[in-house]
Amino acid sequence: MNDESCQLKAQVWTGCRTHGKIDDALAMNPETQSNSSDITPGFGGLRVVAFESRMAAEVATMIERRGGIAMVAPAMREVPLEDNHAALDFAEHLLAGEFDAVIFMTGVGTRALFAAMETRHQRAALVAALAAITTVARGPKPIRVMRDLGVEPSIVVPEPNTWREVLGALAAKIALKGKRVAVQEYGVSNHELTAGLEARGARVTIVPVYRWTLPADRAPLRAALNAIAGCAADVAIFTSSNQVTNVIQLAEAEGIGDSVKHGFARMAVGSIGPVCSEQIRAYGLSVDFEPEHSKLGHLIKEAAAQATLILIAKRANADRIEAVASPTLRRVPSSIPTRSPLADHPMMKACRREPTPYTPIWLMRQAGRYMPEYRRIREQHDFLEMCKRPELSAEVTITAVERLKVDAAIIFADILLPLIPMEVGLHFEKGDGPIIDRPIRTEADLDRIPDMDVAALGFVGNAIKLVHRALGGKTPLIGFAGAPFTLASYLIEGGSSRQYQATKTFMYTQPETWHRLMELLARFTADYLKMQIAAGADIVQIFDSWVGSLGPDDYRRFVLPHTASVIAAIPAEVPVMHFGTVTGNLLELMREAGGDVIGLDWRVNLADAWARLNYSVAVQGNLDPIALFADVAEIRNRARAILDQAGGRPGHIFNLGHGILPETPVDHAIALIDAVHEMSAR
Ligand code: CP3
Repeated sequence: MNDESCQLKAQVWTGCRTHGKIDDALAMNPETQSNSSDITPGFGGLRVVAFESRMAAEVATMIERRGGIAMVAPAMREVPLEDNHAALDFAEHLLAGEFDAVIFMTGVGTRALFAAMETRHQRAALVAALAAITTVARGPKPIRVMRDLGVEPSIVVPEPNTWREVLGALAAKIALKGKRVAVQEYGVSNHELTAGLEARGARVTIVPVYRWTLPADRAPLRAALNAIAGCAADVAIFTSSNQVTNVIQLAEAEGIGDSVKHGFARMAVGSIGPVCSEQIRAYGLSVDFEPEHSKLGHLIKEAAAQATLILIAKRANADRIEAVASPTLRRVPSSIPTRSPLADHPMMKACRREPTPYTPIWLMRQAGRYMPEYRRIREQHDFLEMCKRPELSAEVTITAVERLKVDAAIIFADILLPLIPMEVGLHFEKGDGPIIDRPIRTEADLDRIPDMDVAALGFVGNAIKLVHRALGGKTPLIGFAGAPFTLASYLIEGGSSRQYQATKTFMYTQPETWHRLMELLARFTADYLKMQIAAGADIVQIFDSWVGSLGPDDYRRFVLPHTASVIAAIPAEVPVMHFGTVTGNLLELMREAGGDVIGLDWRVNLADAWARLNYSVAVQGNLDPIALFADVAEIRNRARAILDQAGGRPGHIFNLGHGILPETPVDHAIALIDAVHEMSAR
C-alpha cells in the first residue's frame, strides 16, 4: 500500500472513532435509554444511505419517518435492450453456427440475453440453433429459465455449481480442444473458468449482458461514496445485487475503493435478500441484516430496529482489530458514553480496586436449581426455552438478587448459547448436562459452521434490557460468555468431559484448524459481549471453567492470544472478570490474557494467589461451594478466613470458588451473604 492510501486510511479510522454519530444516536434512541419503558426501535438520527433508483423518494420518506437522516443515491439506470451489443453479436454468430457450446451462468442473465436477442431475432430460430450444439446450465436458476424459453440444457452442472464443476462437466462431455465456447455473463466475470477452458484448448467468447448501468447523473452517488469513505454515514441499504456491483465499481474507478470498503466495515449494512447479500459478500463485505420478507418497507424497518446495536458491535470490533494488530494488546476506549449511574457501587469500585464500605459478594450460578422459585418455573419450561424467553430469564435473575440481597445480578443464560447459531445440535439432557450432536473434530466440521450473527442471541440482549430496567440503577448487572477454550472443549468433546482427550488431541494434531476455531469463537464472543454491554450489562465475566486442564506452555500457545483478543475488545470502562477453575498453575498467564478481576477457585489460598499477581488486579472468590453444606457457624468461620486472607485490601469481591450446587440449602447461602456484609463492614 502506498503512503497516500495509508494516510487516507488513518484519516478514515480516526474520523470514524471521533466523529461517529453513534453517541448521539445512543442518546436519542429510546431503545438504549435505561429509564425508558418504550423499546420500539428507531434510527435515532443515524445517517442512512440507500441506493434505490425507482423508489428513491419513497425510500427517503420511510427512512425519515423512522428518525433517520436519508441520503438516497440512485446507483443504477436501466439499459435499453437494443443497446446490448455483445448480446446481439452473439446472436449473429450463434445463428451462423459458429459456436460448439454455450455456458449459461445465471438465470437473470440468461433471461436478459434472450430479451436482447429477441429485439432482432425470432425465439424459435435461437432455440433451434442452441438445440444443435452443447448447452450448459450452471445451476437450478439458469435451468429453470432455459426450460421456460424452450431450451433443454445438454449438461446440468452438479452442485456446488462453481467454475470447477462447470469445467469438469463440460470437459467430460466434449473434447474442448479447438472448440468455440461462449460464456454468458451477468455483472461478474469468472476469470478462472475462462482460463480453465483456454488451458484445454477451447476458444472462448465472453457474452456480457447488461440490464443496468450507472446513472447518467453520478453526482449523488459520488457524494454518498465520499460520505462512506469519510465515515460520515452509519447505515447502508442495498435493494438489488446490481447496485452492489455499481457502487463498488464506481468507488474503484474514483480511486476510493479501499476507503469505501473500510467505511462499510464500520457501517450497518443491510440487503433486501439472499441474491443481493451474495453479491455484497462477493466483494468481501459483510451483510449485517436482511428482512424476513424481501420488501423495501420490511428492510427499512429491520434497519431501524437493528442499526444501533450492530454499529456498536461493528465499530468496537474494527477498533479491536487495530488493537490486536498493535504489538501490545490494550483495551480500547469505546465510543459508547459511560452511562452507568452505578460507577460508585461497591461492586464497581472493587473491580477498580478502590476502597469500599464492605466487601461486595455475589454467587456464581446464584439463579439456579437450589432455589425453589427457579425449580417452579423450570418444571414448566425446558432449560433452553427459559434462556430464550426474556421475561422468564429476567424473572429468575431478579428473584435471585432479591432473595439473596447480593451486590450484583448475573443474567440468567448459559455459556453454551453461542452453540445455537453454530447449528451443532445443542441440547440439554436431564442428568447428563449439555450434549452436542455434531461435534467439531475436523477442518470439514469447522467449515460447516454457518456465518454467525449475534442477532441470533438477541433474546439475551432483550433479557438484559428488562433486568437493567427492573434493577433501576441500584445493582450492577453482570453479562457473561464462555472463553474460547471452554467453548471449544464442549464443541470438540460433544459435551462435558473429564480428561479433555479429544480437545487436546485436536489441539496437538491440527494446530492450524484449532487456531481457526479459536479465532472464530473469539470473534463471536467479543461481539456477543458487546451486544450485552449495549443492552445494559455493567460488568462482563468470562468463564474459562475448564482451562485448568492445560499446562502453562499449552495455555500460552493455544489459548492466551484468543482470550486476550476477546478481552481487548471490551470497552475499557466495562470491568472484565476472568474466571477459571484448577488454575493455580495459570494465574499469572490468565492475568496476562487480561481482565480487571481474576476469579480464584478454592484450591488456592487467596492471600498467596493475590500476592503472586502483585495485587495488580482485583480478585474474586473463593469459598468452596461445598462449605455451604456445613452449619452456619462453620460457614461464618470459613468466610472470615477468606476475608482475613484478603486483609481488607481494596479489590476483593467475595464469591464461591465455583458455581453453587443444586442441593445447597438456600438459607445457608443467605447466611453467607449476610456474614460477609457484616464481617467486612469498615
Ligand atoms: O450464575 C448464574 O446464575 C447465571 C446463569 C448461568 C448458568 N450457566 C445457568 C445454568 C451461568 C453463568 C452458567 C455458566 C455455565 N454454563 C458454565 C460456566 C460456569 C461454571 O460452572 O464453570 C458452564 C460450564 C456451563 C455449561 C452448563 N450449563 C452445564 C455443564 C450445565 C449442566 C450442568 C448443571 O450444572 O446443570 C448447564 C445447565 C445450566 N446452566 C443450568 C443452569 C441454571 C441447569 C439447568 C437446569 O435447570 O437443568
